[in-house]
Amino acid sequence: MVPPTLNVKKIDKNSKKRQALQQRQRVNNNNNNNNSNNNNNNNNNNNSSSLKNETDLKKQQKQNEIKQQKVNLPVFSARDALLENIRKHPTVVIISETGTGKTTQIPQFLREDGWTKNGVIAITQPRRVAAISIAKRVAEEIDVELGKEVGYCVRFDDKTSEQTKLKYMTDGMLVREAMIDPMLKRYSVIILDEAHERTLNTDVLFALIKGIQAKRPSLHIVIMSATLDAEMFSRYFNAAPILYIEGRQFPVRIYYCEESQKDYLDAALVTVLQIHLDVNNGNESNSNEDDGNGGDILVFLTGREEIDTLEKLLNERIPRLPSTAKQLLVCPIYSAMPQEQQMKVFERAPKGTRKVIIATNIAETSLTINGIRYVVDTGVVKSRLYNAKIGIDTLTVIPISKASAQQRTGRAGREFPGQCYRLYTEDTFAKLDHSSIPEIKRSNIANVILQLKTIGIDDVLSFDFLERPPLPTVQKSLEQLYCLDALDKQGKLTDLGKRMSQFPLEPMYSKTLIQSQEFGCVEEVIIIISMLSVESIFYAPKDKLAEVEAIKKIFFSPEGDHLTLLNVFREYQKVNGNLQWCYDHFINTKSMVKVVNVFEQLVEYCTNSKIKLTSCQSETEQVRRCFITGFFLNVAVLQPDKKYKTMADNREIHIHPTSFLFDVKPQYILYNELTITSKPFARNVIPIEPTWLPELCPKYYGSKPVATAAAAEPQK
Ligand code: CDP
Ligand code: MG
Repeated sequence: MVPPTLNVKKIDKNSKKRQALQQRQRVNNNNNNNNSNNNNNNNNNNNSSSLKNETDLKKQQKQNEIKQQKVNLPVFSARDALLENIRKHPTVVIISETGTGKTTQIPQFLREDGWTKNGVIAITQPRRVAAISIAKRVAEEIDVELGKEVGYCVRFDDKTSEQTKLKYMTDGMLVREAMIDPMLKRYSVIILDEAHERTLNTDVLFALIKGIQAKRPSLHIVIMSATLDAEMFSRYFNAAPILYIEGRQFPVRIYYCEESQKDYLDAALVTVLQIHLDVNNGNESNSNEDDGNGGDILVFLTGREEIDTLEKLLNERIPRLPSTAKQLLVCPIYSAMPQEQQMKVFERAPKGTRKVIIATNIAETSLTINGIRYVVDTGVVKSRLYNAKIGIDTLTVIPISKASAQQRTGRAGREFPGQCYRLYTEDTFAKLDHSSIPEIKRSNIANVILQLKTIGIDDVLSFDFLERPPLPTVQKSLEQLYCLDALDKQGKLTDLGKRMSQFPLEPMYSKTLIQSQEFGCVEEVIIIISMLSVESIFYAPKDKLAEVEAIKKIFFSPEGDHLTLLNVFREYQKVNGNLQWCYDHFINTKSMVKVVNVFEQLVEYCTNSKIKLTSCQSETEQVRRCFITGFFLNVAVLQPDKKYKTMADNREIHIHPTSFLFDVKPQYILYNELTITSKPFARNVIPIEPTWLPELCPKYYGSKPVATAAAAEPQK
């Protein structure tokens, strides 16, 4: 293993023109008022038992700590100016660096200013983890129970009630709400947070809420962004004022690699250990400001598997570190991780222990984690890319943009001067794109089209997008919806299309689910979709890998991953979720609890859509046939060299090693997802028969299918 040679190149501190908002006097007065409630609460409890006093004391300490943190946030001094602008203008754009306090504080300011008296404040987030963890934090700050006044709403998890006034939600959930209530009447203010991320759903919301505001002027809109490119938002919202909040940013020294790294995971491992063991780091840090642990490390990776791998590698190394080294605590964070664990990254490590946070892009701007002094930037991100020629989305690891690299660097300098280790060369940095391409320009928009048509917006091409999706993408997405029978020849929503849009699922899944009635396997399909909704059902302790593989075989179905997952669920049901059984079979109980929850919700959706919960029992071929009705584009055929070629575009793909069919290699496969990491990998695979294609999807395979299949027919 060759350690990356890291070389100091320069200090990258960009001087930005900002107009800081200064209203400190008024803000302090307000703060005193807010605090009086807490003091009263604490005084009331003076005579309780000592145990209660202790709990109260802890609570009061926590509240005091929170109060202190709040007033120290840069957004605090801008409070009155922000409120005045929001009152005066229908739409404002707020720009500030990550960690200024936008997401947690501005909704609270609005609440204190009376905006929740006649309506709810929605705060949208591109990521569910951010929506959940920030709602939790804000509930704690206001000292209310989560789900009451402060709640969150993400797909398959709604923690809101009639009383909810501050509603943190994913942008996708607000689009869904607009399908039911096109005027979004309950909201007094809609905050589109993380606007710079330009997710597909946030882009759709820009246009939707702009249209709503034109018809309902009482709706106020706040756009919040972490990058300075705000003119576009302002222009789009009729010259809305742009408010800059001066953040605190300490200098960050940037190190580049002298040569490109072949294996960024390995380079990250070496760099983390190098930072941790470097004696100079101890000298540089001031023990008062960072708890004497030398400052925490934040590593950016692209996804869960990489994060798991690095966590494992680090945990193997830690016991072998010199006894003089400080303690090292590895904290992973990614979207699919159980909630309790997600909150851990925010907790302080024991005194003197250094945290290594291994994160996806979620830690770039969505979540601010305190205590970071070192950032390790691998320079890559997993991104959804769309191939409009064939209409397939893939998850692909690609280089980040310059803007992203700068954001990542910034995470090291929020509380004290920091260091950022870029695991790529300075030359590579210079060649990165200025900013990332917005999702609307690189994703399949079939779902968006379906949603817009449900809302009554039929002409997608002339919809008032901030930036239009490319024409080939629109055409291909329309074609896909037509092949799925969601649209008719005129492009009008069919009855099936309407029903599909009711489900909180991508069109391929909602079509499969609705079709399962015809195949008599509704229950099986719901179970499989629920099982596919979580990242991993099995966990594999590193010392028991062989044992895990052996156990997994118990559930194996030659009919592929879907049916194998179905077997796991059935067994889990039989033993009533018995913990010992889960433990013995290396089943992740938390994942299964989530699966059951999704299952129950999908059953409810089906009941509402008058879909009967039929079961095909042992006729499981029906399940595989049914999946073709939704996933006909994701089909591939085995080649003599044991690789697969996709039927849609003759592209080479491989079965992912986690698939139960990895060694089986059936002739024809259908897969749910294509991930491109080191190679294009098909995940969640079932074997199919080629004759099913023209039979079940005549629109797509009617003329060419068997011919295509025959042309690609492998030699045995
Ligand atoms: O939105 P912006 O990036 O401007 O900042 P924020 O997310 O509102 O974060 C403000 C502060 O709240 C930071 O110091 C965070 O570390 C803290 N926070 C926290 O301690 N726990 C959370 N779950 C969320 C935020
Ligand atoms: Mg934020």
